[in-house]
Amino acid sequence: MKQRDLLYEGKAKSVYRTEKKGRLIVRFRHDITAFDGGKKDVLQDKGSYNARVSAFFFKYLEKHGVKTHFVSMLDDRTMVVRELTMIPLEVIVRNVAAGSIVRNYPFKEGTKLDPPVIVIDYKDDSRHDPMLNDDIITALKLCTQGELKKVKAVALKVNDLLAGLLAEQDITLVDFKMEFGRQGKTIYLGDEISMDSMRLWDKKTGESLDKDVYRFDKGDVMATYNRVAKRIIE
Ligand SMILES: Nc1ncnc2c1ncn2[C@@H]1O[C@H](COP(=O)(O)OP(=O)(O)O)[C@@H](O)[C@H]1O
Ligand SMILES: [Mg+2]
Repeated sequence: MKQRDLLYEGKAKSVYRTEKKGRLIVRFRHDITAFDGGKKDVLQDKGSYNARVSAFFFKYLEKHGVKTHFVSMLDDRTMVVRELTMIPLEVIVRNVAAGSIVRNYPFKEGTKLDPPVIVIDYKDDSRHDPMLNDDIITALKLCTQGELKKVKAVALKVNDLLAGLLAEQDITLVDFKMEFGRQGKTIYLGDEISMDSMRLWDKKTGESLDKDVYRFDKGDVMATYNRVAKRIIE
């Protein structure tokens, strides 16, 4: 697969066209950002930890019947994916109250959310990703009602699969964010599922194993990503 022109440079990944129609290359960069890009750093090897964990999850999900954009890895931080028309939604599934849901609503941090809570935000940094509801989503024509129903069902299935897999490693999947896109009428899970997009807690110690270590200066971020990637993949 040959890399052609740069299509999009995001906060943490660069997306390139390829010589093959319908295939893109996503390079996970070593950039890390938080607070809508307000905090930024470049951390050695960060891209490969996230790319490898994402690839591992996408393969696991495909095996269990979830359609994802993952095609293959070119190297440890470069992924070949199916080209999607992205739906500008951040689909978040929460199993335990933490982060913005605790800041914005009267939830006590650490409260179990059963059944899981789905929160859908509008992916728009300039508006600080405001929360949507079903009516706003369809009024803005971000997707159809049928697509929204499908997205929510897939989000819950992914949550069940990943929460189960992580529990085997004594990790709680507190919450995580997904992005979906379409190719024709088919909806695929796109983007990444990594330590940047998940909130993970060690079941025994309660320690953060994700980007919160960076957001709140809780310790050595890359040492954490390295340990978590090993724990998940190996
Ligand atoms: N399969 C795909 N096809 C097209 N675009 C994708 C695909 N997967 C992810 N994307 C988009 O590529 C970009 C990835 O780069 P990222 O650094 O995460 O950007 P951002 O700062 O916008 O979140 C995102 O905008 C994401 O929505
Ligand atoms: Mg992103």
